[in-house]
Amino acid sequence: MKTIGIIGFGNINQEVARQAIASDKIEIKWILDRSPGKKVKKEARQKIEDSLGKKLRFIKSKSSLRSEADKVDVIVEATGAIEAIEYLRYKRDKLKWGNEVLFVTANKAMVANHLSEFFDSDNNDVRIEAAVAGGLPLIRSLSEHIASDKVQGMVGILNGTTNFMLDEMEKSIYSSKKQTYDMVLDESVQRGYAEPGGAGDVDGQDAAYKLQILSRIAFGTDASPSSDLVRGIDDNKKFDRIRSVDFIYASKYLESTIKLVAIAQSSSTAEPFFLVYPMLVAKSSNIANIEGPDNYIGIYSKYLVYTDMQGKGAGPEPTACAMLADVFSHKNCNSDSEPEQLITAFRSSEEVYFSRWMIRGSCYDRPGVLAHIFQHFESKEINIDEVFQLKTDEVGRKWSKEELDFGKEQEKILPFAFTVTKTSLGKLQKALSTLQLNKKFFPKKDKLFAFYPFLERKSDDNGVQKFVIEEQK
Ligand SMILES: NC(=O)c1ccc[n+]([C@@H]2O[C@H](COP(=O)([O-])OP(=O)(O)OC[C@H]3O[C@@H](n4cnc5c(N)ncnc54)[C@H](OP(=O)(O)O)[C@@H]3O)[C@@H](O)[C@H]2O)c1
Repeated sequence: MKTIGIIGFGNINQEVARQAIASDKIEIKWILDRSPGKKVKKEARQKIEDSLGKKLRFIKSKSSLRSEADKVDVIVEATGAIEAIEYLRYKRDKLKWGNEVLFVTANKAMVANHLSEFFDSDNNDVRIEAAVAGGLPLIRSLSEHIASDKVQGMVGILNGTTNFMLDEMEKSIYSSKKQTYDMVLDESVQRGYAEPGGAGDVDGQDAAYKLQILSRIAFGTDASPSSDLVRGIDDNKKFDRIRSVDFIYASKYLESTIKLVAIAQSSSTAEPFFLVYPMLVAKSSNIANIEGPDNYIGIYSKYLVYTDMQGKGAGPEPTACAMLADVFSHKNCNSDSEPEQLITAFRSSEEVYFSRWMIRGSCYDRPGVLAHIFQHFESKEINIDEVFQLKTDEVGRKWSKEELDFGKEQEKILPFAFTVTKTSLGKLQKALSTLQLNKKFFPKKDKLFAFYPFLERKSDDNGVQKFVIEEQK
């Protein structure tokens, strides 16, 4: 029988409590939450107490853990707060519960922001399996994998919420019940995949935290990525978010779909490259077929060549299951073959990242508008490749009000799209930001453009097809 203390009594740890009780191998000694009085938590507590047949013990602050009677075998933390690192520090320093009391967490934000405290090889007291890809045993596999192999790159879908949203939007493009971004975001909140508003998921940060943790294991990077190369499906910055029409262009003209891809790649001459971006992915590739809230990871390495894993990346049940597996585990997340020297930066900047791009914009339906844009791109030394124009009666030809509302001008505004040949992200953003939004051609509205890079596949020297990030030489 293992004894556990629980920190944070939200979606995940309520399920941890249920599974712990059902297992008969775990006893819950105490629960610490910052607001146990909330109605939803009181109701969950009542149900768990009814099934347990006795009361759960809630404590108010970490100082209540001082008594020897509060000592447990494992602390199970799922708060989502970066500051929850204070509990690990308190356990190690003040309580002096060193390696003998495990600290199991699902909190990727905390781990990514304090990598050294989780990967210091002197400590064997942390387990982080559930922090990346929920139920997939990815941390353990990767840690063991690199003991005898060298990881060259990783590509994946690490955020289940946005994958669900993109999948729903795409499935509905030709159906009579169009699913817009706002509709699928609401649905993912109702299903418990996302917080209201989707913060953390839709801006790419959640996927970035996970890729950062994986990169620490695979490449020995003790670094945060550049914010230029972490973008979600709605980044609230200068450019538009994803819209249903983007899937129409991607599917009809480019045999592709759009996925929020996390990709990292080692380099023999520079730091590893790091990118989280909504990308055009060829429909013929395995990544394009990851559906709903599933997660996927593909790992390229020297000897195993290519290994991949797909499954339930999020949700209380798989995540709690992974945490309870950690409760019984014996091995730390850091591998036996720690790098001699940590790499302190990623090679990721908007000048270095190089790709073909699809650009979608909105304009008045007037002759000359495309020539105006293309001349500007030419002056910025960017080559236009293909131009896509939907026919007058085609789905997606007009903006619907639910999708993008231009008020009184709605009827006059059309979406349009084109691709450009390889150019850097920096150059592309500059060209779009300096385009003269002449009122003859463009409505007065912010964020008229969205753009997507292509996820490229290339054969390596052995003929193995790999997804790669291309860099400006
Ligand atoms: N949901 C998933 O599918 C999933 C999957 C994998 C990993 N995770 C990770 O698991 C963690 C928890 O997720 P969740 O969905 O369970 O979140 P949640 O429902 O918001 O639960 C978090 C709980 O912790 C409490 N809390 C926040 N900060 C605290 C602090 N400093 N001290 C004590 N209690 C604190 C919160 O109180 P308030 O109610 O006052 O905020 C809430 O009760 C996150 O790190 C998340 O990234 C989640």
